[in-house]
Amino acid sequence: MSTSLAWDERYAGGGFQFGDAPNEYLLAQARRLRPGLSALAIGDGEGRNGVWLAGQGLEVTSLDWSPVGLEKAQALAKARGLRLQTVVADAASWDWPEARFDLIAWIYLHLPPADRARATAGAHQALKPGGLLVLECFSPAQQGRRSGGPKLPELLWDRGIVERGFEGWEILELTEGAVRLDEGPRHQGLAEVVRAVLRRP
Ligand SMILES: C[S@@+](CC[C@H](N)C(=O)[O-])C[C@H]1O[C@@H](n2cnc3c(N)ncnc32)[C@H](O)[C@@H]1O
Repeated sequence: MSTSLAWDERYAGGGFQFGDAPNEYLLAQARRLRPGLSALAIGDGEGRNGVWLAGQGLEVTSLDWSPVGLEKAQALAKARGLRLQTVVADAASWDWPEARFDLIAWIYLHLPPADRARATAGAHQALKPGGLLVLECFSPAQQGRRSGGPKLPELLWDRGIVERGFEGWEILELTEGAVRLDEGPRHQGLAEVVRAVLRRP
């Protein structure tokens, strides 16, 4: 089972486990962003996505349960002359704010089903009506591949989990299939993922 301490250990060395460039799918959403919007990057680890969003002029909060990861996120933001708010918390038990964010980036945060349901409800609460959720996570077809992802099958996502978890939301994009990852040492090569952009009603 994944723990915050295990993630602290992974992040304790030098370098960036998933690189310091943003996730490609998030990057592809640049046209949907505007300076001044507020964003939450959940499970943001070493901050590559939150810091990139801050670089687009958004006001960003990065949440992760690894303080070591978020320290690196802060250092990355500082090195780029950007502001980043960080919150060390478990996404499953965080006191999610109400209608606070225009965008939530949910990039490779894989949670056990009960925790995923809590975080999904939290995302619903924290997004403003009309706000966007951008998600990329590994799908069941990733099992056995060496390009990254959790070992436990119940942590993986598929289209149905997105559709049921965010029922009633407008689906702007939803795909499940193969992509080629080039994201630091931990995400390299052909990978099977779910990608989605959803709008909160
Ligand atoms: C695969 S990494 C992805 C990091 C980052 N999103 C990226 O794409 O570079 C997963 C991240 O989720 C965090 N995480 C896992 N479970 C969490 C939880 N329950 N609450 C908060 N963060 C969690 C880990 O600490 C880790 O930083």
